[in-house]
Amino acid sequence: MNNSLSLNKYDTDQSYDWNYDHAPKPVDLSVEQIPGDWNFCGLKAASPLGIAAGPLLNGSWLLYYASLGFDILTYKTVRSVAHPCHAFPNLVHVKTGFLTGDEESLEKSNDPTGSWAVSFGMPSKSPSHWQDDIAQTRKLLPSEKILSVSVVATVQPEWSLNDLANDYAQCAKWALESGADAVETNFSCPNVSTCDGQLFQNPQNAAIVSEKVRSVIGDKPYSIKVGHVTNDEEIEILVDALGPFVDAFVMTNSVPTTVHDENGAQYFDGNKRGICGQATRRASLHQTRLFRQVIDKKNFNCDVIGVGGISTANHLKEYLDAGADTIQLATAAMLDPMVGAKIRKEF
Ligand SMILES: Cc1cc2nc3c(=O)[nH]c(=O)nc-3n(C[C@H](O)[C@H](O)[C@H](O)COP(=O)(O)O)c2cc1C
Repeated sequence: MNNSLSLNKYDTDQSYDWNYDHAPKPVDLSVEQIPGDWNFCGLKAASPLGIAAGPLLNGSWLLYYASLGFDILTYKTVRSVAHPCHAFPNLVHVKTGFLTGDEESLEKSNDPTGSWAVSFGMPSKSPSHWQDDIAQTRKLLPSEKILSVSVVATVQPEWSLNDLANDYAQCAKWALESGADAVETNFSCPNVSTCDGQLFQNPQNAAIVSEKVRSVIGDKPYSIKVGHVTNDEEIEILVDALGPFVDAFVMTNSVPTTVHDENGAQYFDGNKRGICGQATRRASLHQTRLFRQVIDKKNFNCDVIGVGGISTANHLKEYLDAGADTIQLATAAMLDPMVGAKIRKEF
C-alpha cells in the first residue's frame, strides 16, 4: 500500500455545487483488514470504518470513499424537496482546543487545524435525482459495502408534528426503495433554525417521528443522528423514547458555536454553526460512553456509532473502548482521503 499517494479531495475554495460535479474517480487501493466481527444495525460489516453524513455528496463521492477502505457509507442528508446550499464559505477552519459546548465564539484560522465550522444547511437535489443516484450507486458498490442514506424533513410554517413525521418517513421509504441498505434520520443540525433541526432535544416529538419512520420502513436498519448532549438525565429520556424504534444512535453531529475573524467580525451573520473535527472528540467520546451505559442498563438492542474527531487507529480504539460498535469519519477523511487506509495499517 502506498501511503504517500496524494489523492483528490473536496476543494474548500470551490462551491458545494462545483464539488458535487467534481467527484474524484475510485482508486485501486489494497488495504489491511481490521480483524473482528463488525455489525452495523444488524448488517454484517467488513470493518468498523464508516463515513458520516457529509463528505459523500452523491454516489460518485460515495464510490470514491468506498475505494479508499471505508465499508459503511452514509449518503449526505437528502430531503423531499430540492434545497439550496448556504452561501459560501461553507467550511471555516477554527483555532480551538477540545470543546465542551460552553464556548461563546471561536476565531477563524487561516490554516487547517483539524477542526472547522460547517455551514451547508443540508442542501438536497430533488427526490427523483437522488433516488436515481442511489439506485445506480447501489448497483456499482461492492456487495459487502453498506450504503446508508441520511434524511431530514423540510418543515413548512403551517406543518404539524405529524406532517413532519410523514416527511421524514417519506424520505426514508424512498431511500430504501431506491436500494439503500439502511436509513438514518438526522435529528440534529445546528445549521437550520427550524424545529426539524433540533429534534433530538425534544424526545417526545423525536419518538413520534421515529415511530412513524419505523412503521413505514418495517424492519430495515434504522439509525438516528443526535447532537451534543451532556446531561445523563437527558440521555436516559432520549434512549427511553427512541430505543423501541431505532437500531442505532449515531453521535455526535457537532458542537455548535459562533465564529469570528481576527478583528472580531462575525461569520455566518453571528449565527452558530456546528464545529466538526478533532475539537469534538473528547465531548463525543464522553457522550458515546454515556449512551452505551444507558442503552445497556435499559436492555435496548441498539448500536452506538461513534463520530467526532476520529483520525487515527488510537481514536478508533478509544471509541470502541467507550462502547461504540462502529465509527464514522467526516472531517479527517475530507482533509486526508488516505486516512482510512492509514488507520487500518496502524490498527
Ligand atoms: C462537510 C460536512 C458536511 C456535513 N453534512 C452533514 C449532513 O448533511 N448531515 C449530517 O447529519 N451531518 C453532517 N455533517 C456532520 C458529520 O456527519 C459528523 O457528525 C461531524 O462532522 C463529526 O465528525 P468529524 O469530527 O469526523 O467531522 C457534516 C460534516 C461535514 C464536515
